Amino acid sequence: MIDFKPIISYIEPSEEDIKEVRNLSNKLIEIINITARDNGFDAEAVLLGSVAKNTWISTDDKEDLDIDIFIKFPLNTSTDDLKSQGLELAQKCIENFNGTYQERYASHPYLTGNINGYHIDIVPCYDIKDSEELKSAVDRTILHTDYVMKNLKRYQQKEVRLLKRFMKMVGTYGSEFKVGGFSGYLCELLVLHYGSFLEVLEGAFDQWKPGYQIDLEQHGTTHLFREPLVVVDPTDKNRNVSAALTLQKMAEFRVAASNFLETPNESYFYPKLIDCHRETIRNEFKNRSTNSIILTFPAPDIPADALHPQIQKTEKSLVKILENGDFKVMGSDSCSDEDKKVVILLEMTTWHLPPFKKHDGPVIWDEENGKKFLQKHPESWIEGDQWVTLTKREYPDAESLIRGTLTKMGIRRLRVGKHLKKKIMDNYHLINVLDFLIDENLDVEILKFMHCYLHKNEFLTR
Ligand code: CTP
Ligand code: MG
Repeated sequence: MIDFKPIISYIEPSEEDIKEVRNLSNKLIEIINITARDNGFDAEAVLLGSVAKNTWISTDDKEDLDIDIFIKFPLNTSTDDLKSQGLELAQKCIENFNGTYQERYASHPYLTGNINGYHIDIVPCYDIKDSEELKSAVDRTILHTDYVMKNLKRYQQKEVRLLKRFMKMVGTYGSEFKVGGFSGYLCELLVLHYGSFLEVLEGAFDQWKPGYQIDLEQHGTTHLFREPLVVVDPTDKNRNVSAALTLQKMAEFRVAASNFLETPNESYFYPKLIDCHRETIRNEFKNRSTNSIILTFPAPDIPADALHPQIQKTEKSLVKILENGDFKVMGSDSCSDEDKKVVILLEMTTWHLPPFKKHDGPVIWDEENGKKFLQKHPESWIEGDQWVTLTKREYPDAESLIRGTLTKMGIRRLRVGKHLKKKIMDNYHLINVLDFLIDENLDVEILKFMHCYLHKNEFLTR
């Protein structure tokens, strides 16, 4: 096996890092608590999440770190007070540090901000002692942080870090919709269950199948869940911690684990540099001899966790519409910078059809309907005992079908996220991938997206 020490020393925060982050967290907490007292709010800020659990990763990339500050309110606080007081405290706190912030929504509003390059989440919640008292999903975080701090051994903190880092590098980390992968808490529970980073990988490799169940506290409630992986929340028997994990990401992790175990390599813990040249990608698309089209439109100004499900829904619906129109879609994917642009890629093996299609009529024994059918379609013939005819195809090529769908009338067929609808209708761009890739000023993120579309296994192997 490889030597994990250099990796650990790269991802483990140094004494100074820890001091700096703890100091900042303490200052934030202090400001919030003082402001609460001055305003007569019954609220108390605490540090939760991976900084509190000491399972956060520190690398050259500050993006890796988020500080989770929760503002606890007593259970008898009204939701309105919790919202307004919570947001007020959070705003004042960030303004005090000259940071920037945006409002976000989980089950209720919270702030995500930036102070000196640190990503800070400030989340109002109810101060619960037990999952029975749960009022909103974020309240659980108190229980989670407690559970991990009590149960995860000191030496296991680095095992969690290894697992999170591995997951990030192979592309399976993050329970947000964009990824549909493993959350930080899930990684911690997996290390608690299996013991170490390597044992998690071995466990996934040896045991996992869809429906695999882990129940650390023997709550006996695994039967309640239908998701691909079931990990009963030790702090709440009615919740599957792995609910957001898609079958796809579960499978990808299993394959990455097996690849790593077969040929262990430290490069699994560092970003894989991919060489993506516009012309190479263009040639690859050309050599596939399929037809790929790119649909782009401006991104609406909504939080990422609202945006991605809508994009995915729209992508799926476009595929369905094409297939219903007898076009064959071999693959599709979508991406967004979550700011300016949404891109949907559709790759087809059939994109052009004759101007007519075969259309089944009634069986010939059905005299009445047969007559009507023949009146309408005099050129009909019999196949077996059924009338068959040719009718004109409304859209003989895929592009015209999509253009027809993105019109005032056609859009009704599309199951499009509501925020996307207006953006698409106002300003969409439809272009063949080979034409798209002529543009020399394409964003490198778009090129990466296309490269990864063509090389789906890229990050699972080294
Ligand atoms: N949480 C959760 N379910 C999610 C996301 C978050 O229950 N899908 C809770 C967890 O208790 C988690 C806390 O919210 O510990 C903070 O979320 P997050 O910052 O995403 O996780 P961390 O554990 O802090 O991990 P990371 O190192 O990625 O920040
Ligand atoms: Mg966090």
